[in-house]
Amino acid sequence: MSQLSAQQVRELDPLAFLAVLGKRVLYPYGRESAEWLLEWAALKPGERVLDIGCGVGTTAIRMARETSADVVAADISPLMRERARRNVARSGIDGVRVEAANILALPYDDNSFDCVVAEAVTIFVDRDRAAKELARVCKPGGRVLATEFCWRRSPTAEARELFLGRVCPAMQVDIVQECLSIYFRAGLTDIQTASGPFAVMTARGFLSDEGSHAVAVMARVMTRPTYRRKMTWLMPRMARAVPYLGYIVVGARKPSLSADRSRSDDRTSAPDSID
Ligand SMILES: C[S@@+](CC[C@H](N)C(=O)[O-])C[C@H]1O[C@@H](n2cnc3c(N)ncnc32)[C@H](O)[C@@H]1O
Repeated sequence: MSQLSAQQVRELDPLAFLAVLGKRVLYPYGRESAEWLLEWAALKPGERVLDIGCGVGTTAIRMARETSADVVAADISPLMRERARRNVARSGIDGVRVEAANILALPYDDNSFDCVVAEAVTIFVDRDRAAKELARVCKPGGRVLATEFCWRRSPTAEARELFLGRVCPAMQVDIVQECLSIYFRAGLTDIQTASGPFAVMTARGFLSDEGSHAVAVMARVMTRPTYRRKMTWLMPRMARAVPYLGYIVVGARKPSLSADRSRSDDRTSAPDSID
């Protein structure tokens, strides 16, 4: 595998950086959010699933292993696809295909998948457009599942500036209600949510997600000065923003064709309450 230059390492967003270090769980919330997602996905053997923005393939592999679903793991980033392909090969699972795709213009026909998953992806793009693409490729009656960053409480100006201005400049973080509205506007129904604290870059979350593999990730940081410098820059800034950040898992359904007709008259605004 090719080694990134120091400049390329400096330009990586924090989650891509963790992927380069070998971290396996990249969703920003730790494994708990994936448990919700998999429960709501309720996959059956042979169902077609799209995991868009699959990162290193952790959830795609798990879905195929645990449910025998037929999984397409797609990502816009060649670096992530390379890692995902390697992890799929190592897993010995043959129900996962890794492909190139952009969530804003998915290269799949309408109504192609029983379930569409986007974990921590829409936060990087035009979210309304992305949610509409997720809905478009989902079959009527199928499930759309996504996880997002959210503000659990109003951030201080300093925390907001550090996180969105410096650490993750390409990212959008909203309050929970706005995250929900995006899926409603995409025409999805039966919207349910779960939320919790942001765990991926806390020491406790890191250890609980990676287990004994955490040592290997930390050891890799020590192998290059560029990795050490990036980690030293990143950690204190993240620590200031983490208390305000959380995750939200959104589970929704694409209306079946008959339900679509009967609901179109009586649902005109987003639901106002969530769990
Ligand atoms: C935070 S990582 C999450 C990875 C994985 N879903 C997970 O939860 O472990 C975000 C992923 O979205 C991918 N991504 C960003 N923009 C994308 C786009 N426009 N289309 C598809 N994937 C995208 C990134 O390359 C990265 O792999």
